[in-house]
Amino acid sequence: MNRPINLFEYEVTAKQHLEPMALEYYQSGALDEITLRENRLAINRYRLRPRMLVDVSQRDLATKLLGQTLNVPILIAPMAFQCLANSEGEIATAKAAAISNVVMVLSTLSTKSLEAVAAQRQNTPQWFQLYIHRDRSLTETLVRRAEAAGYEALCLTVDAPMLGKRESDRRNQFTLPKTMELANLSMSNLAIPQTSQESGLFAYFAQQIDPSVTWKDLEWLQSITSLPVLVKGILRSDDSLKAYEHGAKGIIVSNHGGRQLDGAIATFEALTEIVETVGDKIEILVDGGIRRGTDILKALALGAKAVLVGRPILWGLAVEGMKGVAHVLQLLIEELDLAMALCGCASIEDIEPSLVKINY
Ligand code: FNR
Repeated sequence: MNRPINLFEYEVTAKQHLEPMALEYYQSGALDEITLRENRLAINRYRLRPRMLVDVSQRDLATKLLGQTLNVPILIAPMAFQCLANSEGEIATAKAAAISNVVMVLSTLSTKSLEAVAAQRQNTPQWFQLYIHRDRSLTETLVRRAEAAGYEALCLTVDAPMLGKRESDRRNQFTLPKTMELANLSMSNLAIPQTSQESGLFAYFAQQIDPSVTWKDLEWLQSITSLPVLVKGILRSDDSLKAYEHGAKGIIVSNHGGRQLDGAIATFEALTEIVETVGDKIEILVDGGIRRGTDILKALALGAKAVLVGRPILWGLAVEGMKGVAHVLQLLIEELDLAMALCGCASIEDIEPSLVKINY
């Protein structure tokens, strides 16, 4: 088999490795998938204005985030249920993250425990994504466990007070196979229910996730932890300002990969106003449709400090486990390196707004 040479080819190949229920859960967006498509279209509307005759013989992709040096401005987005792609699931992803020196954000809804994933870290930082459950003591326990296991930041996902309507999951009555569990929550006897006429994950959110969460709860979260908290799922400048005012150390501009509110704006459309509002105060990251090194360069030119990559990681995992994830990351890093050379950027600081132009 020839190895895929880009992230789109990984998606095509992954389809041969996944059960239909898992594939549709991974790839789908909400409703008519307008936002899912728009994330890519919005990135493609930006064109590059490369700078010539710059010495790019030495290139440095390292950047600083929350006071730490990252090898590359790329993180692995939190994604639930990775054992559906590969029996090692999140463990394989964590191993690939560690050898690639890329921060992995682990989902609350992982199929391997946060402690087992933390054991794969080596010297690469890991972050933990949090969903606030109705049971606050359970939520607090998750935070304590993440701290004890050495996670270095929390990402509070705020765009999912209820789960978006993903129609293939409803059709498939999506649930986890009996061999898999909510590894961080099974001791609290929580599981994805088997439902008729509905996605089990939708039902889980309706039963367990707290839809009453507000900015006050962001303060509550910070009152129980000393870890930096980033807010994931912001799409408006006024919300970005509130996040800053309520103490968040960063924002992830995200529409959950088009899986929550269909018709929501693309993340690249939201990015500029958010950077203008709080870009000099807190860290701004972006995700949604990042598939090429040039996409990352555009995000950084628009003022993001780093990007998160979602589905392509799952495609790599499905095709070749840890090696597939590491290869997906390597392809992206090589493409970013090349894009920087061709744009006249020897370092991440050289990536500035005049390198992009919107093309209406
Ligand atoms: C996600 N995402 C997500 N986000 C989150 O905060 N907690 C989670 O548990 C999950 N789970 C999840 C599962 C799957 C299968 C996908 C595809 C996505 C959203 C994810 O973190 C990220 O925002 C998007 O996936 C980014 O878009 P792309 O790169 O997939 O286009």
